[in-house]
Amino acid sequence: MVRLDVKIPQVEAGSYTIYIEAGSLCAIWERLEADYPNLQKFVVTDANVAAAGHLATLIGKNSPQVYSIDPPGEASKHIDTVIAIIEELEKAFFGRDTLIVALGGGTVGDIAGFAAAIFKRGVKVVQIPTTTVAQADSSVGGKTGVDSSISKNAFGAFWQPEAVFIDVKTLLTLDDRQYCAGLIEGVKHALIADSEYFEFYEKNVDAIKNRDLDVLGEIALKNCQIKASVVEKDPTEKNLRRILNYGHTIGHAVETASGFELLHGESVAIGIIAAGMIEEEMGLATGRLGRIEQILRKLGVPVRIPAEIDKKQLINIVKRDKKAVNQWPKFVLLEDIGKVLCKNGQWAVDVPRDLVEKILTDLY
Ligand SMILES: NC(=O)c1ccc[n+]([C@@H]2O[C@H](COP(=O)([O-])OP(=O)(O)OC[C@H]3O[C@@H](n4cnc5c(N)ncnc54)[C@H](O)[C@@H]3O)[C@@H](O)[C@H]2O)c1
Ligand SMILES: [Zn+2]
Repeated sequence: MVRLDVKIPQVEAGSYTIYIEAGSLCAIWERLEADYPNLQKFVVTDANVAAAGHLATLIGKNSPQVYSIDPPGEASKHIDTVIAIIEELEKAFFGRDTLIVALGGGTVGDIAGFAAAIFKRGVKVVQIPTTTVAQADSSVGGKTGVDSSISKNAFGAFWQPEAVFIDVKTLLTLDDRQYCAGLIEGVKHALIADSEYFEFYEKNVDAIKNRDLDVLGEIALKNCQIKASVVEKDPTEKNLRRILNYGHTIGHAVETASGFELLHGESVAIGIIAAGMIEEEMGLATGRLGRIEQILRKLGVPVRIPAEIDKKQLINIVKRDKKAVNQWPKFVLLEDIGKVLCKNGQWAVDVPRDLVEKILTDLY
């Protein structure tokens, strides 16, 4: 069992532990009973995670109250689901002594975390992520929330978990497309923070694709270390945390313009290439883009904007980026693999509009 402590001095509880071990899911319930003997446990999961057998493995012979999100996925990441969870808690007389146990991907984690943040003004939550996205990204860092009918994550709260339990074996039941797309957040972590970790991806790409559990365990640890170290320094995204958005400005725009046909990680892969092209145009890069593109291609994600996406629409979406000032966002850029460019203390920098427009034209 690998343990990683995350210390967030800015929040009340202060710190939490991430536990990583392949095959540990069947032992987590006992651990929760031991660590939180006085809390009433309420599991939130989804129909696919339950069908894959992970719910049964987690609870074993215990029979806690379970809310299974159905249909699984983004369509349910809505305030109505949060209301349904809270009303279920109330009907069963759960109080402030509740521990919400989120078992699933980022959708489950975001919904359950948000429900925990607002039920009775906040109850404890533990995250048990079961997708590559959730194990690399969403379960660590305390961002929770749900979509409105107009935009993603319109409702939300920062709500740190009590603990995170990662069993990489749960990834074996994930479909190939979801699996590969979620790996891209790990590539992003390597690019922003650790050139050796990037080389690890290059050397182990076959083992990663074959879902070798030892390699997946190492990736999970690296991802959590990098994400946690950023979140520790800037839990509410005042400045440094923005480096986690590397590749995401164009990535989000491509994801939205595709009508969410492209998965988040697939869109971020395209955004990473766009950022790399911006770096080349601005004289920041030293021939690294080929290496980056090669690893993304090997991981089976797109590296060009699909032809059916309208460029004008794409630019309009970039202008509406939620962090845009005067209708234009700043960009996180690399100085080198493992090193983000910082200008005057800012981790997101200005890039001229015409340069971005040119790159978007070239990237089809
Ligand atoms: N809070 C954050 O910091 C943060 C960061 C990144 C992403 N997110 C959010 O996470 C969501 C995407 O996460 P995701 O990709 O994990 O989506 P998801 O939770 O919808 O999971 C993807 C699909 O895989 C299924 N699934 C989950 N685990 C499985 C398993 N082990 N075996 C088989 N099927 C399984 C799910 O039922 C779903 O159909 C988005 O809503 C995004 O906004 C949040
Ligand atoms: Zn992302």
